[in-house]
Amino acid sequence: MFNSKENTMWMMNLRLLLILLFLLVLVTRPTSQELLDVVQPPSNDSQWQCGCETPPSHGEASPSDFPNLLQYNAYKVIQRFKKTITSDPNNVTATWVGYRPCTDKGFSCETPPDRKNTPTIASVDFNGFHLCAPTLSGFLDQLPDLAIFHANSNGFSGTVPNLTSLPFFYELDVSNNLLTGQFPSNLLTLDELLFLDIRYNSFAGSVPAGIFWLGLDVLFLNNNGFSQPIPASLGTSPVAYLTLANNGFTGSIPASIGNTSNTLIEVLFLNNRLSGCLPHEIGLLQKATVFDAGANHITGTIPLSFGCLKKVEQLNLAGNLLYGHVPSVVCNLAETGSLLNLSLSDNYFTSVGISCWELIENKVLDVSRNCIVGLPNQRSLLECARFLLKPKCCPLSAYIPCPLNHPDSSDDVLPLPAPAAKPTGQASLTYNAIHNTHSK
Ligand SMILES: *[C@@H]1O[C@H](CO)[C@@H](O)[C@H](O)[C@H]1NC(C)=O
Ligand SMILES: *[C@@H]1O[C@H](CO)[C@@H](O)[C@H](O)[C@H]1NC(C)=O
Ligand SMILES: *[C@@H]1O[C@H](CO)[C@@H](O)[C@H](O)[C@H]1NC(C)=O
Ligand SMILES: *[C@@H]1O[C@H](CO)[C@@H](O)[C@H](O)[C@H]1NC(C)=O
Ligand SMILES: *[C@@H]1O[C@H](CO)[C@@H](O)[C@H](O)[C@H]1NC(C)=O
Repeated sequence: MFNSKENTMWMMNLRLLLILLFLLVLVTRPTSQELLDVVQPPSNDSQWQCGCETPPSHGEASPSDFPNLLQYNAYKVIQRFKKTITSDPNNVTATWVGYRPCTDKGFSCETPPDRKNTPTIASVDFNGFHLCAPTLSGFLDQLPDLAIFHANSNGFSGTVPNLTSLPFFYELDVSNNLLTGQFPSNLLTLDELLFLDIRYNSFAGSVPAGIFWLGLDVLFLNNNGFSQPIPASLGTSPVAYLTLANNGFTGSIPASIGNTSNTLIEVLFLNNRLSGCLPHEIGLLQKATVFDAGANHITGTIPLSFGCLKKVEQLNLAGNLLYGHVPSVVCNLAETGSLLNLSLSDNYFTSVGISCWELIENKVLDVSRNCIVGLPNQRSLLECARFLLKPKCCPLSAYIPCPLNHPDSSDDVLPLPAPAAKPTGQASLTYNAIHNTHSK
């Protein structure tokens, strides 16, 4: 097929190629140190065993060792962070070797939205690894394409890094660590943030109003040292699951909570130092399945509007300074709504609506340690008198934001309407958050 001229050219090219190859072998001949390394037994690293990765050389990694420059940069950040880890009981970091950071345990890769075919670290999941390090700064904030960080139950100290320069970041779980300081306000600039779980740390001080201006779907702040009132901006938040439990929040539940009626599903105010009256706007929470304001210093009566909480399954107001009559319209929710558990123990209620008696019998309603005449396990007369003689300042609100088939005022027993869809009885996301293990 070839003519003679082309043949000669081809032979010359081949000779040139052979010479080049020979030179290449000379240049890349291994040094004695590298030969020694080769005879060492290979580590039991699975990546080595599958042979799907270039073994790490002992020199500096260079960008050409990596699938792309983004992974090279991530590798350097991970290696630097690895050196700061002071405890790794599960030997996780033993997998953080080699030039394929996407296969390091706890890391996973995806191509960032603004690029093509350049997978890099997009998600980090250290849940339950029990790693200890003095800070996450210099690590999280240096993985520019990170979208998700989960690190439940580790021993990370310091503060939440400044994640302002991570354009894709939307999910942060640093629950059950040793983080300290004020609320991590640099998070307020993360417009994409959807999920924030910083429960079980040692954060203190106030929670900034701006947190409720974000588009958060889940906000878990429980079991920290937060204090000061809950910002009234709560009303602007689209949050569905909110836990503020086990902190030191003061002031009253913001009336603006009524403005979250289209989104709020579970809310835990449990065990703070909240005071004031229950705003009747709570009755607007048509989607709420869990409302828990137990163990606070909230006073006043239960607004009749609570009879509109058609979806509520768990309603806990135990351990407060509530008084007066427990409205039938609320107890009726066990029939007409979804109510499974109404906890009103340790208050100063003096009477219950007719429809409440059956709930007491069925143990749906707990009114122990109140001031209800004729019921066992109530406070002493003296204790009740002392409380009830104090001046009361909460308004009695007749506001009922829904049609009620059971007007409470007369406490008549009317024929029951068709029962609403029965409760799901599914485990509550926020009550799970009261425990320190990961919830996602
Ligand atoms: C590596 O694995 C082999 C068998 O798979 C085992 O006998 C050996 O102890 C392992 N070495 C180390 C350092 O774990
Ligand atoms: C981790 O490695 C240490 C020492 O190499 C060993 O004693 C320990 O059992 C390992 N732990 C786990 C969970 O593999
Ligand atoms: C956080 O980082 C951004 C940009 O990287 C910077 O503008 C801002 O001042 C930093 N915030 C704090 C509190 O350091
Ligand atoms: C709730 O929303 C209504 C209507 O959008 C608005 O007029 C009101 O000011 C809001 N209330 C609070 C306390 O945010
Ligand atoms: C009802 O709710 C209270 C307060 O949250 C809780 O202590 C109690 O265990 C619950 N009862 C049942 C039967 O779930």
